[in-house]
Amino acid sequence: MTDEGRSLHVEAEQGLKRIFVVHGPNLNMLGVREPNLYGRTRLEEINAELSNLGSRWGLEVSAIQSNHEGEIVEAIQQRLGSVDGMIINPAAYTHTSIAIRDALTMIDFPIIEVHLSNIHRREPFRHRSLMADVVTGQVVGLGVNGYYLALRALVDIVGAAQSGKR
Ligand code: DQA
Repeated sequence: MTDEGRSLHVEAEQGLKRIFVVHGPNLNMLGVREPNLYGRTRLEEINAELSNLGSRWGLEVSAIQSNHEGEIVEAIQQRLGSVDGMIINPAAYTHTSIAIRDALTMIDFPIIEVHLSNIHRREPFRHRSLMADVVTGQVVGLGVNGYYLALRALVDIVGAAQSGKR
């Protein structure tokens, strides 16, 4: 590596912001689950692309998926103080979970809520998100691009030092 390359690398390492991604119940089935609604991209592909984009944009991305409400609550609690931003698709818990909402209210870093489908065009019970007023912003109805757009927004919101092109 040239001196210039090395110093750019060090700069990027120092500026690395940590982004935690949470995928809720049934999202482990992406790709096979109702592809007309949720598309054909698998969860592993989404996570891999988030990591790729993150490394270009000065973000270190880690992700979990859980089908269990309490596990999601615990995962959020464990990250308090150790991450800089969050992307969450609470899936069905969006519409039901006061526990996840309460966990999110403890957080003092930006949170972006993502839904692959446009929840407002679907059944009435999906129109309400219990998370909506405790998150920084939402991206809905744009499929997997919603995750990538959320990550791109976090670059500016958390002030990551970018090492490469956008
Ligand atoms: C979802 C929408 C929810 O209503 C649903 O329960 C999901 C996925 C979405 O990404 O569109 O599981 O969060």
